[in-house]
Amino acid sequence: MNILVTGGAGFIGSHTVVELQNAGHEVVVVDNLCNASEKSLQRVAQITGKQVPFYPVDIRDRAGLEQVMEQYRFDCCIHFAGLKAVGESVGMPLEYYDNNIGGTLTLLDVMRQHGCKNIIFSSSATVYGDPAEIPITEACPKGQCTNPYGQTKTMIEQIMMDLQKADPAWNIVLLRYFNPIGAHQSGLIGENPRGIPNNLMPYITQVAVGKRPQLGVFGGDYDTPDGTCIRDYIHVVDLAVGHVKALQAIERGCGLAIYNLGTGKGCSVLEVIHAFETATGVKIPYVVQGRRAGDIPAMYSDPGKAERELGWKAQYGMEEMCRDSWNWQRKNPNGFED
Ligand code: NAD
Ligand code: UFG
Repeated sequence: MNILVTGGAGFIGSHTVVELQNAGHEVVVVDNLCNASEKSLQRVAQITGKQVPFYPVDIRDRAGLEQVMEQYRFDCCIHFAGLKAVGESVGMPLEYYDNNIGGTLTLLDVMRQHGCKNIIFSSSATVYGDPAEIPITEACPKGQCTNPYGQTKTMIEQIMMDLQKADPAWNIVLLRYFNPIGAHQSGLIGENPRGIPNNLMPYITQVAVGKRPQLGVFGGDYDTPDGTCIRDYIHVVDLAVGHVKALQAIERGCGLAIYNLGTGKGCSVLEVIHAFETATGVKIPYVVQGRRAGDIPAMYSDPGKAERELGWKAQYGMEEMCRDSWNWQRKNPNGFED
């Protein structure tokens, strides 16, 4: 298929471009590089042996998007572009709503005008809020999001559902990611956070590489077996493959389809630290601190629907996730800046 990938220079996007190219799809990337480097796409080309046509376009730029859409005939769009820092979104709600929602509205409208009505969207487990039950199935009611970032995911899902209802010619797949970590096994691409990492694994790898003295564990008094929060960490390569599989749903004319992408296994913060130490042999000094506002005590997926309907199942475990995160960080201590 001919696929437009928005945000394709970013962490999950770049890994997905690799899997799409390896599966024989033709890919074009648009990205405004606000949280990425074009070098990631050069590295993708190194991995796959295929160039990645790239346009430095902001998805809010209608004319820019139209130019790209006129040049290619896309069968489907995979839409990663968006701002994603939960804490930052609390202080910058207008920027988050403008970028994520405004950008998506423009993208959908330009797609419609050009007759491309197939889209796969990067949603998030954050839409479940504090889940009514775990493991979380897609039938679990959506919950209250505590921050503008999460609200944008919930609202974009709603916009896409309304659109598909109004015009059944659209095929829309909402993929609700759990916690992506890891990196491509080559160590050529990986997560490249700007400044102090917000997320657990990039913080751990920066401690491991000596950039930060120790990890702060946010909360040791949750009602979980070891007192720390539980998440469903998933290898980014597994997540990327999930997008390739989701194209099957588009191809068979799914209308609206929603899938959790997770492993189904919960892992506590302390378990992640210990798994990292075992997988890499590097000790991670840490100190247990107060809770981080807005954190949910425990969430992990029931990924059974994706397995039943798409034939997708996560292949990698925590050991490989730690090994590959470390391999990337060790080889690229300053991300793509080297
Ligand atoms: P990322 O920041 O690495 O990738 C997002 C990309 O979008 C970046 O390359 C950025 O430059 C680009 N971008 C942002 N705004 C843009 C705009 N207006 N126009 C064009 N490009 C723009 O983040 P990621 O971790 O790869 O996340 C990809 C998607 O998955 C995001 O939508 C994110 O919200 C979603 N998601 C991520 C996680 C996670 O933990 N990483 C979890 C759930 C959902
Ligand atoms: N944590 C620490 N110390 C840190 C960073 C994180 O103890 O320095 C803890 C958090 O408190 C949490 C766990 O590690 O218990 C995971 O935290 P992350 O920030 O890595 O991930 P979150 O589950 O908070 O959020 C992630 C994405 C969101 C997405 C959400 C649900 O960052 O975009 O998963 O899918 F919405």
